[in-house]
Amino acid sequence: MNISLVQFSRCLSTSKICCKKVIPTNIKNKGVSSQLWLKRQLSDPYVEKAKLMNYRCRSAFKLVEINDKYKIFCPGQTVIDVGAAPGSWSQVAIKEVENQGKVISIDKQNIYPMEGVTILSGMDFTDPASQSRLMKELNGTKAQVVMSDMAPRASGIREMDNENMMNLCYSALRFSVQVSEFGATFLVKLWQCGQSKQLELDISRFYNNVKFVKPKASRDDSAEIFILGRSFKGLKKT
Ligand SMILES: C[S@@+](CC[C@H](N)C(=O)[O-])C[C@H]1O[C@@H](n2cnc3c(N)ncnc32)[C@H](O)[C@@H]1O
Repeated sequence: MNISLVQFSRCLSTSKICCKKVIPTNIKNKGVSSQLWLKRQLSDPYVEKAKLMNYRCRSAFKLVEINDKYKIFCPGQTVIDVGAAPGSWSQVAIKEVENQGKVISIDKQNIYPMEGVTILSGMDFTDPASQSRLMKELNGTKAQVVMSDMAPRASGIREMDNENMMNLCYSALRFSVQVSEFGATFLVKLWQCGQSKQLELDISRFYNNVKFVKPKASRDDSAEIFILGRSFKGLKKT
């Protein structure tokens, strides 16, 4: 079987037939980074497991692990999933909040429809119009969980990428404190950098119990880490 790298990677994310560890024969002339990516995909147990469990991507297991350990979801909750494409976190959340709950998912990219989930595709979360739209979906109610797995497109310039990531984190935090119910949970992804501690301190101003979390499904060689804020303090009325 002689398939191109593009066809093969498409198979990895969609097909149940091709994903049986078919080793493409014609990758030697591909770039080093493509070869490394492919090798990593093939040897990653979470990629295979995601396919078996019908998750849209391996990221699902990060949230599953966090939820198994910290029990962030309960039936009936309203969850806002920011940076949700392709949608594996939303898959996990909708299953946990069950029929009475609500998941509202937003991303710049397209998110294919998912039963029970309100999807806002093609929307930049940092745009005030997108946040107004999310609030409209809440229809005067509050959220019990706001989670952000947003990541900016990496430029390779570390300082700039970290700054862009931090801007997304703070945007998610500002939104979360506006729409969250007293006692709610905030989960945000960041890349470890010089500002991580300050972000943790800032989240602690609004949430009682704040910790860094690195699930096993998050690759060891990745700077990715999560901050989990529990027990929202509420906003003081002035
Ligand atoms: C790691 S992926 C999220 C994976 C997702 N949690 C899942 O499990 O399927 C990061 C996402 O953040 C989105 N993103 C980055 N910046 C964004 C922004 N300003 N507004 C909305 N989405 C954004 C990207 O489009 C990308 O889909």
